[in-house]
Amino acid sequence: MTNTKPVKIVETVLRDGHQSLAATRMRISDMLPMLEQLDDVGYFALEGWGGATFDSCLRFLNEDPWERLRTLKRHLKKTPIQMLLRGQNVLGYNHYADDVVAEFIKKAVDNGVGIIRIFDALNDVRNLETAMRVSKESGAHVQGAFVYTISPYHKDTDFLKVAKDLVAMGADSICIKDMAGLLMPYAAYNLVKTLKSEIQVPIDLHTHYTSGMASMTLLKAIEAGVDIIDTALSPFALGTSQPPTEAMVATLEGQERDTGIKKEQLFSIADHFRGVKAKLTEDFKLPTNIMIDTKVLSFQIPGGMLSNLLNQMKEQGAADQYPQLLEEMPRVRAELGYPPLVTPTSQIVGSMATFNVLLGRYKMIPREVKDLVRGKYGRTPAPIDPEIKKIILGDDDPITYRPADDIAPQLDSLRQQLADKGYPNASVEDVLTYGLFPEVALKFFETNR
Ligand code: CO
Repeated sequence: MTNTKPVKIVETVLRDGHQSLAATRMRISDMLPMLEQLDDVGYFALEGWGGATFDSCLRFLNEDPWERLRTLKRHLKKTPIQMLLRGQNVLGYNHYADDVVAEFIKKAVDNGVGIIRIFDALNDVRNLETAMRVSKESGAHVQGAFVYTISPYHKDTDFLKVAKDLVAMGADSICIKDMAGLLMPYAAYNLVKTLKSEIQVPIDLHTHYTSGMASMTLLKAIEAGVDIIDTALSPFALGTSQPPTEAMVATLEGQERDTGIKKEQLFSIADHFRGVKAKLTEDFKLPTNIMIDTKVLSFQIPGGMLSNLLNQMKEQGAADQYPQLLEEMPRVRAELGYPPLVTPTSQIVGSMATFNVLLGRYKMIPREVKDLVRGKYGRTPAPIDPEIKKIILGDDDPITYRPADDIAPQLDSLRQQLADKGYPNASVEDVLTYGLFPEVALKFFETNR
């Protein structure tokens, strides 16, 4: 059935927009003057919390992320606040115990989050179980996301299977999360068609402009019936961010799937954020020319990762071996079971490939690679190459259960640790902050508690 409903928009200027283009440095004071106006636009949601913002608040902005959330909520009375959550990793880089995941989500909802987008780097839905269940129990809209990537093991029907699992686990909507900008326009059309043929809940498309295709990709997805798209107001759009909100709204104006948003209403808000971008660039000495990177199209490696790898090779005095590295990357990725290249798997594959080029294949194996092969991050999309498995694990068997089943509850011990450090009456929020980013949290508490 053709979707004739208005396209809904998630505005990302308060989260992914500045995470992608301004190193996540936007402060609450930069947002405050526009919150009422943003609330009046008629967005499906305002993405404004989670992702890297939590860490950045504490580390760089001397802001309490929980206080930021409460402030946002005070000013956004109509539009739900959306956050991005990395499944069992919450907002950190390790798997946490279930009690930490559960308490974090409850507090996020208590303090104002209305929609929680939850994903796992390997698309292993077992890593989403606790987060999705608690989000539902807390009354949030749960958006189950899968990570988009390209490999022989990532056909549209494979994504459909993950999406169906997410719906069975209670997802209120599904998100295609294309963090690297790999989703091409016609591929998006086919993927959305496939999902829409069997999935009843709304489908959201989140993509990045990295390879220069994102607006076309959104448009083809809209033609295929996608329900929700993610866009950023123009000052924080394009480059490695999302397509510009104003342009997408104008494109659909007067058409069957008109968003209903008045583009004129967006212009003054965009003017404000243009000023914010200039200020952030100056205050934090940010690079100003983030360009699109079409190499993504042939290497299927996120653009940011390519430049990181090249820098690493330069530091090792091995820049001349960069071409070998570009060949080694896809080979290692295949051997390690085709993980999507997103944090943390992008770093894992990248460092293994680098070591292979510099020292010989699988001569030196980083701990994270061992953990991946051991199943500690979850199930890889394809089986690990048996020879590589043998080299890395010997005769040991990998784990086959949900990785977090191994992790004992952590909250009590975190509370105790904080008490020992001189904060016996820490709030639950502060305990969670400490659990996720111990050193940064303590430094923040020193001057703020
Ligand atoms: Co993104």
